Amino acid sequence: MNIPDWKDIYASKLVTAKEAISYIKSGDRVVTGHAAAEPTYLIDTLVDNYEMYENVEICHLVSLGEGKYTRPEMKGHFIFNGFFVSACTREAVNNGSANFTPGFFHEVPKLFRTEMPVDVALVMVSRPDKHGFCSFGTSSDFTKPVADCARIVIAQVNEHMPRTFGGNLIHVRDIDFIVEHSEPILEMQPANVGILENKIGKYCSSLIKDGDCLQLGIGSIPESVLTFLWDKKNLGLHTEMASDGIIDLMLAGVINNKMKTVEPGRSVITFVMGTKRLYDFIDDNPEISMNPVDYVNDPTVIAKNDNVVSINSCIQVDLMGQVVSESIGLKQFSGVGGQVDFVRGAAMSKGGRSIIAMLSTAAGGKVSRIVPFLDQGAAVTTSRNDVHYIITEYGIALLKGKTLKERAKALIKIAHPNFRDELRAEYERRFFEPYEA
Ligand code: COA
Repeated sequence: MNIPDWKDIYASKLVTAKEAISYIKSGDRVVTGHAAAEPTYLIDTLVDNYEMYENVEICHLVSLGEGKYTRPEMKGHFIFNGFFVSACTREAVNNGSANFTPGFFHEVPKLFRTEMPVDVALVMVSRPDKHGFCSFGTSSDFTKPVADCARIVIAQVNEHMPRTFGGNLIHVRDIDFIVEHSEPILEMQPANVGILENKIGKYCSSLIKDGDCLQLGIGSIPESVLTFLWDKKNLGLHTEMASDGIIDLMLAGVINNKMKTVEPGRSVITFVMGTKRLYDFIDDNPEISMNPVDYVNDPTVIAKNDNVVSINSCIQVDLMGQVVSESIGLKQFSGVGGQVDFVRGAAMSKGGRSIIAMLSTAAGGKVSRIVPFLDQGAAVTTSRNDVHYIITEYGIALLKGKTLKERAKALIKIAHPNFRDELRAEYERRFFEPYEA
């Protein structure tokens, strides 16, 4: 049998970006690569030719790009539908010109395989290796699964995309159209970590023991935790996202993944977002295992590791322990992401703990994040039944196994002092008894 060489297959699929996007039709659902793996050149070409299209739905979660398809002049041509809202898509979602679809991150690949079939996957990959496999590099998450189920796969081959191990490859024969275009991978600079974030980071690290398996979420607080882990030993990483903070801890062997059950010896991640230093670090690194989100974030997979500690952040917590992490009142700010996947995975893990850590106030100290009642319209992300620890710069509140009264007291103790009177008054109204600390 005459089996074609992968190099011939590759050459036969090479097209210009303009030709590639001509295979997208009006009314199609197009899913684009995630976060740092956004295929910027393909998206720019699509947007430049917007007049060719009517009602093309563009789906993704986090974007580090410009979200040009949400601009007012794109109305009728493109409509964004996100599972997560980023800086570039927030306004469109909140003014009604774009859509938001709630859903746990680990379920997104399944949605694309079932309820939300995908016409076109627009992805970015590394150059092929000597066997003809390209890597999805910085993102496996839904990017790899969507390429497995889309009707048409259009891939931008970028020489700067790192090659990562794990289930994160696609063979050139499974790509329909290939566009060669190299450009720097989108970067996210480390978050600003101030004195208060550091206090919170220190409290969080006091709950982390040698041998724990960590998940760290988005934002300045999870980032600050990483700087307080230098005295720990044999930490593991099984996390949705990773940023620059993991590099030195892995290089120094503080994170060595020795105690893990799932893929011992490797940091299991579904996407990375950071600087070029991080992208160079994960490139060809056998200690990094990048895998689809329906595996990494599956709570039953997370729970196979003992002593899982998840650390995420939030926007508001009420006195019962209901956690809002994705909206400010009715306004969608981000999305559930993997917060609940990991809160539940940690709860099922032997010795597991989940932490929600936040500054006690927001908006320059004008509002308390610990409130008697959630803002009208706010979406509860982590329910009061799931919540475990809440941390602010004023300390640690353990809520699991605690009564409503005990929860309220523990939360008032870690609220900003300027707001404690109001919270105490609500305690007395609600529980018909004087507040005693
Ligand atoms: N009332 C009014 N405004 C509030 C507020 C509140 N209760 N809480 C936060 N805000 C404002 C802040 O002031 C800030 O505004 P600014 O940008 O104008 O300064 C903005 O909302 C962002 O808040 P901040 O706490 O600084 O955000 P962050 O970057 O640290 O991210 C989350 C925190 C909760 C938004 C983020 O962690 C998230 O999206 N979580 C959900 C998903 C998740 O946890 N995934 C985990 C796996 S990766």
